[in-house]
Amino acid sequence: MTELAPLDEEITLEQLNLDPYPIYQRLRKESPVLRVKATGRTMLTKASDTEYVKGNPALFSSDDPNTPMQRAFWAQTLMRKDGNDHRRERMAMAGAFKPAVIENDWVPQYQKIAEEYVSRLPKGEVVDLFPALSGPYAARGLAVLLGMEEASDEQMQRWSQALIEGAGNFGWRDEPFERSDKANEEVHALLDSLQARHKAEPNNSAFALMINADNPIETKQIYANIKIAIGGGINEPRDAINTVVYGLLTHPDQLSEVKRNGDWAKAFEEGIRWVAPIQVSSRLVKEDTEIRGCLIPAGDTVMTIQASACRDEELYEDGENFHVYRDKCRHQAFGNGPHMCQGNRVARQAVGEIMLPLLFDRFPNLSIPDESKVIWRGFGFRGPVQIPVLLK
Ligand code: HEM
Repeated sequence: MTELAPLDEEITLEQLNLDPYPIYQRLRKESPVLRVKATGRTMLTKASDTEYVKGNPALFSSDDPNTPMQRAFWAQTLMRKDGNDHRRERMAMAGAFKPAVIENDWVPQYQKIAEEYVSRLPKGEVVDLFPALSGPYAARGLAVLLGMEEASDEQMQRWSQALIEGAGNFGWRDEPFERSDKANEEVHALLDSLQARHKAEPNNSAFALMINADNPIETKQIYANIKIAIGGGINEPRDAINTVVYGLLTHPDQLSEVKRNGDWAKAFEEGIRWVAPIQVSSRLVKEDTEIRGCLIPAGDTVMTIQASACRDEELYEDGENFHVYRDKCRHQAFGNGPHMCQGNRVARQAVGEIMLPLLFDRFPNLSIPDESKVIWRGFGFRGPVQIPVLLK
């Protein structure tokens, strides 16, 4: 009879938060399907398994009622739906992510925002790139795309953080939900106040397209999906900028070559492969099944570790390290299957085509004066939480 996956009782959430990569490297080799007590999930660390799970929504559902996401967002967002329900809600926003809309509507605005935000950086000084540039830039771009420019960068970032922390509040503590409730109230109030403007002046922002559709989805779902985009559209471009800047500045040979060839898009792809901004995703198992000879029972939750998949030895040579010019850089940092990141094109443009070349052009001698001051954190989401750079 097939047996359950082995059970680990030693790995801690703190270890995963500090640096999960040595753990994943070991698990890929020794125990690629593992029940981890600290996470309450079966962790999958091999690329073929994570891809298989995300590509099979009938067996591995996104609709997991055991997570705090519904409580945190006051609704079930499109990320936690399957099949037609999911497709209908995803399509409702799709117009804002079309290549032509990105090119004509968003890129010119992102370019302007990038110019403005890079120009205000204090030349010659050491600043933490996270609060000084990458966080606010990601927030402003998203506010424009969603059609909520009236929100400040501070609000967008605070709401995003509160919603993410609420969705990750597996201990069901009151305090994170109080913060996410406040974010919900404020976002709803703003969206209520913006309806008239978007109805009077239809445009390609996600909010306007959803409320002006011929057959709109429920208002509650429109609001929920704007909130999931706030929760899922700021951290990742921000962390991607910080990660790629770190990767390039600590590999000066690669930086010179990237500058010479203008290979910023390549640097972006390698950065998010190396440290995936969204490291893990969960799926609920619908029927008893097997992975690598282990029984995965119905009702179990599997955690696909795309961060680990992106370094799998079967796909990458020296995957633990940052090599812009590696042979192959197909990766799962944007996920795959029906929930694959809807913002992938826009993120590639905003970071790879706009921000990175601009930043290195304005500060050709940008450097990290003290590498020990760069702090990395995160298990669910990961990136430098502090990255002081010298602006020269
Ligand atoms: C480097 C930047 C980004 C990365 C690495 C990233 C990564 C991801 C990943 C891995 C997923 C799938 C999660 C799962 O399978 O459960 C996802 C979903 C999603 N992302 Fe992104 N993301 C990025 C930027 C953005 C941006 C800028 C936006 C919005 C403008 C966005 C909007 C979304 C949405 C709406 C979903 C849910 C799609 C669905 O459930 O159908 N993302 N993202």
